[in-house]
Amino acid sequence: MTTVGFIGSGSIGSTIARLAIEAGHRIVLSNSRGPETLADTVAELGPRASAAPSGEAAAAGDIVVVTVPVKAFPNLPAAPLAGKTVIDTCNYGPERDGHIPELDSKSLTSSELLLGYIPDAMVVKAFNNIFFKHLLSLARPAEAADRSYLPIAGDSAPAKAAVTEFIESIGYSVVDAGPLADSWQQATGTPVWGTPYGPFSNQKGQPAGEDAIRAALAAATR
Ligand SMILES: NC(=O)c1ccc[n+]([C@@H]2O[C@H](COP(=O)([O-])OP(=O)(O)OC[C@H]3O[C@@H](n4cnc5c(N)ncnc54)[C@H](OP(=O)(O)O)[C@@H]3O)[C@@H](O)[C@H]2O)c1
Repeated sequence: MTTVGFIGSGSIGSTIARLAIEAGHRIVLSNSRGPETLADTVAELGPRASAAPSGEAAAAGDIVVVTVPVKAFPNLPAAPLAGKTVIDTCNYGPERDGHIPELDSKSLTSSELLLGYIPDAMVVKAFNNIFFKHLLSLARPAEAADRSYLPIAGDSAPAKAAVTEFIESIGYSVVDAGPLADSWQQATGTPVWGTPYGPFSNQKGQPAGEDAIRAALAAATR
């Protein structure tokens, strides 16, 4: 059993948390407003779920999922994330996040920007390319023929291995999409972002296998 800390417990965070609970993991949720505001979610998820302030959720996790608006990166608790494997689900959207020059100019990926705020963490980009409703509905057991694949990008081989094991445990397989500097290949608007899993209007989604995800990554242009 892995303990997964969450910084952010919105649409995507709470969906990953639900899949993690179903897979037998322990989870610690957090948000910007405080643990008391997560009481209903914790009650729904059951005894292996709890909520805490963000710093405590970060400290508790063997893996920590950072799943917040990019504009919240400067407020993340860097000290308890030192040495941790961190999954970054986040996508940059200037309409929500305001304009961030390094991202507008594409001199950094959003994951590299995140790493700048939590420099001692081992960041792996994952889950950013799938709609949260598809993430819930497309999870499949390991032996299923229609298992979907998710791209992961990161600079630490051990962190990627830990994230792969976690993702495998909650119903997906992974495609290694290279280092964090290449994570633009799975950013908002790229071929692998959303489309392989079907339109947002169909909440069930469609399974996307390894070949489809590799082809979509290869088709990305910057
Ligand atoms: N929605 C999707 O299908 C989807 C899919 C893939 C990736 N993403 C990306 O993943 C990230 C999260 O998306 P979402 O849709 O889950 O967003 P969301 O529903 O708006 O949830 C955002 C969460 O972040 C929390 N938060 C904000 N600032 C924080 C801070 N300083 N410390 C701790 N928690 C903080 C919020 O807490 P409060 O509510 O208390 O403010 C909330 O729990 C975004 O970057 C998004 O682009 C989304």
